[in-house]
Formats: sequence, C-alpha cells, structure tokens
Amino acid sequence: MNARLALILHCCCLATLGRGAPLVRTRRDAEEQARSLVAKILRDIPAAHDASVTVTGFVLRQVPSNLQFMARSLDIPPAPVLRAQDATFTKEMCLERIAEGLQLHLRLLEAVRARLNSAAVISNLEANIKDLLVQIRKMEGWSSTSNGVRSTVTDLSSRLTGDYEVQVAAHLTLSQLLSFTQNVSRSLHNITHHKA
Ligand SMILES: *[C@@H]1O[C@H](CO)[C@@H](O)[C@H](O)[C@H]1NC(C)=O
Ligand SMILES: *[C@@H]1O[C@H](CO)[C@@H](O)[C@H](O)[C@H]1NC(C)=O
Repeated sequence: MNARLALILHCCCLATLGRGAPLVRTRRDAEEQARSLVAKILRDIPAAHDASVTVTGFVLRQVPSNLQFMARSLDIPPAPVLRAQDATFTKEMCLERIAEGLQLHLRLLEAVRARLNSAAVISNLEANIKDLLVQIRKMEGWSSTSNGVRSTVTDLSSRLTGDYEVQVAAHLTLSQLLSFTQNVSRSLHNITHHKA
C-alpha cells in the first residue's frame, strides 16, 4: 500500500514537472492545433446560429439578395479572399489574409454578442477563433506587423439600431464565418500538404 502510494506521488510529481517545463512548439504543432481548432469552429457555428438567430427563414449560409442589401447598409465587410497558392500568392500572404479574416469576424461577433441572449455560446466561439489566430501567428513566425482590420467594423454596434438589425448581423456574420472557415480549412490543408 505504501509503495503504491509512493509510486502515485512520484507520477504526480513527474506530471507536474512536465507541465511546468517550457513548451517548445514547432511550426508543425501549430499547424496541427490550427487544424483541430478549425474543425472545432466549424462544429460550433451551426449551434451558435441556432442559439442566436430566431427569425424564421434565416438559414445558415443562405443569404438572399435582400439580406445582401442589408449587409451593405449595415456595412459588414466581406472576408478577405483566400486564393490558391502560387508564385504571386505566397504562404505568408495566405496566412496574413487568414489572420485578417479571423480578426474581422472577432470584431463582428463582439458587436453582436453584446445584443444577444446567446452570449455564452458566442464567447466560446470567439475563444476558439482567438486560439486559432495565435496558432496562425506561430505559423507566420510572429513576423506579421499589420493589425489588418478596418476601423469601420468597430462601428457596427452603433448601426445595430433594433432587434431585427441584430438578427441580420448575427445571421450574416455566422454565415460568412462558416464559409470563410471552410476556405481557411482548405488553405491550411494546402499549406501543410503542398509546401510552397
Ligand atoms: C490547393 O492546391 C491545389 C493544387 O496546388 C490547387 O489546385 C487548389 O486550388 C488549392 N486550393 C486552395 C484553397 O488553396
Ligand atoms: C470561399 O471560397 C469560395 C470559392 O473560392 C468563394 O466563392 C467564397 O466567397 C469564399 N467565402 C468567403 C467568406 O470568403
């Protein structure tokens, strides 16, 4: 019994030491974590939409033309375009666009979260996006200096004048985020599998 207790204590001790040691994360670790965060975000978005958007007929990813008009009047910026990598669109440019897109959607989510009853679900989504942003920065080697996001996004909350505007903004933001994250997923797949 005593020997077993000693063994357990010994193991706990080792585990504690292991956790305290500085984590040396390679770029490959960052890529792996980024992929798993992307999968998590893709799973979270439909639940976030269900919890936030109650207007009948607002179906995730479907943005009819009247809502496209509202996207312009609410001034919700489009996501940065992620092209296939080639000589003129490098891995670094791709990672920078991903980072810009993530920051853009964080600002949009922050603005709608304040006006929704589903704040906890949206906060959870934001936390995963922030973690993903950290992994993207690691993949960039922390070389980026741009903060990327146009300041107009911060004004979104002032344009959310009524509940309907909040619903439209939440629907558009989550729909665009889903499409953008799927494109991020494809780009990350390419970055890891076709090293440029
Ligand atoms: C991924 O790479 C393939 C082959 O290089 C290319 O055809 C495709 O367009 C790329 N997709 C993305 C999203 O970068
Ligand atoms: C995702 O990629 C597709 C195909 O390139 C494009 O049509 C769509 O606009 C992209 N989505 C976002 C949110 O950028």
